[in-house]
Amino acid sequence: MLPKINLTETKAYTYLSDHFEKMIDTDLKDLFKSDNERFSKFSILFEDILVDYSKNRVDEETIALLIQVAKECMLNDAITAMFSGEKINMTEGRPVLHIALRNQSNTPIYVDGKDVMPDVNAVLNHMQEFSNDVISGTWKGYTGKPISDVVNIGIGGSDLGPVMVTEALKPYKTHLNLHFVSNVDGTHIAETLKTLNPETTLFLIASKTFTTQETMANAHSARDWFLAAGAKEADIAKHFAALSTNSKGVSEFGIDTKNMFEFWDWVGGRYSLWSAIGLSICLSIGFDNFKELLAGAHAMDNHFKETDLEQNIPVILALVGIWYNDFFDAQTQAILPYDQYMHRFAAYFQQGDMESNGKHVDRNGKDVDYETGPIIWGEPGTNGQHAFYQLIHQGTKLIPCDFIAPAQSHNPLGEHHTLLLSNFFAQTEALMNGKSLDVVVDELKSSGKTQEEIDQIAPFKVFEGNRPTNSILVKKITPRSLGSLIAMYEHKIFVQGILWNIYSFDQWGVELGKQLAGKILPELRNEDEVTSHDGSTNGLINRFKSWR
Ligand code: F6P
Repeated sequence: MLPKINLTETKAYTYLSDHFEKMIDTDLKDLFKSDNERFSKFSILFEDILVDYSKNRVDEETIALLIQVAKECMLNDAITAMFSGEKINMTEGRPVLHIALRNQSNTPIYVDGKDVMPDVNAVLNHMQEFSNDVISGTWKGYTGKPISDVVNIGIGGSDLGPVMVTEALKPYKTHLNLHFVSNVDGTHIAETLKTLNPETTLFLIASKTFTTQETMANAHSARDWFLAAGAKEADIAKHFAALSTNSKGVSEFGIDTKNMFEFWDWVGGRYSLWSAIGLSICLSIGFDNFKELLAGAHAMDNHFKETDLEQNIPVILALVGIWYNDFFDAQTQAILPYDQYMHRFAAYFQQGDMESNGKHVDRNGKDVDYETGPIIWGEPGTNGQHAFYQLIHQGTKLIPCDFIAPAQSHNPLGEHHTLLLSNFFAQTEALMNGKSLDVVVDELKSSGKTQEEIDQIAPFKVFEGNRPTNSILVKKITPRSLGSLIAMYEHKIFVQGILWNIYSFDQWGVELGKQLAGKILPELRNEDEVTSHDGSTNGLINRFKSWR
């Protein structure tokens, strides 16, 4: 059972509210001026990952009070509850055990009295054997040719994680070409199939439930395409595998359950890349690299479980996030990787964070009267700089940003990486320091502007600064460091959910749209005029019918 304490009801929160009044006018520049040790005090090194949170509007008292809030919300008990397999996903009656999937130390983890590790290891062995066979060419298609292309068909958590990781770890790629089809828009699968040869294509149908409309529609279209090319039903076994918890659904679809890679209801969709859902990752980078990804995540799990809150990276990131979210009213959080390979990282955590903490009912079943999960967004640097950074620098909204960069590039081409990193450092510095009116005026003077021109232009060139950032510097993006980074954010989300007193591991908010689409679908299958909805929906449906 998770504790059910709203953070605003803790004693420390009252002190924090008073402390906020003092901090609201505190300038980051002054915090650095007054403390030479600030960088070492407010940064944490974990393996090859340096997390610098010193450019935040916090001092030692802020962190101490936030930690006190976490303690009063019984964060340590909640961490223990998750790691020990308690059913902390109360609304679905399930444990939350993505940590078991990467439990490389293999210590037993019990669900309803049964150790889950033997099953976890058996599926990993199956994934290893299968991916080795496909990569080596031992696995043959129905005409005896080896597999050249793999299509993962899945959506949400059954897509975003594998896409993000295979992109981020492209330098480790095998010869297989990976494709991902998620959208039910026929264009997605049609465009993908155009380039493929059925004799050498392997489809992975990735769906925890094996009922998701988009995935099932795409899976059926893939099967039709495969059979239309001259293959027989019996050939499906060589070209279709299923990654799912639903063996009945898998065999009904016609996939041999020998080609089914199982996982369990205690793996949340958005936390499933570590499970059989990661088979596309294994095929893309090889099983040994997949294991390294798991090992990196496991190392972060141990750090999270065992480190004091004061030095605990996911905890600190979560608390700093809460500080902005609940005191400074920041509505969003940007994730800005200065690594082109990580271009889907923010999109991945859009689901990871927003599907987890986008909740307004607390664990007591009552509406919260404070802000919960932020809007997550971001793009890789430097592209973002030429798009939306203007608003981060000079807009009216406070946007806490996570800057992530590797020190070593996989493509050390000329000066590119030095240029990239100079932007990374410059942005966080500029966001903090801004540019004062005096500096602007001096610059304009020395460029020869008249006083009248200076008066006119100067206000637009001022940057307030004092805009907070975390800098996450990674030695190199490897399977291990990426595993640690992902787990770091997962646990950050967990900590925030605990303090906001919400259930982070269900997703009822996605259900209503699904239900209504199911109701509307039959109405679109005929030409009758629709009158059963509100005026707008009726009008739109009827116009659609007349235009299609
Ligand atoms: O978007 C809602 C959701 O339930 C996600 O949580 C999940 O990742 C996704 O749908 C896909 O579900 P499935 O793996 O069951 O097809």
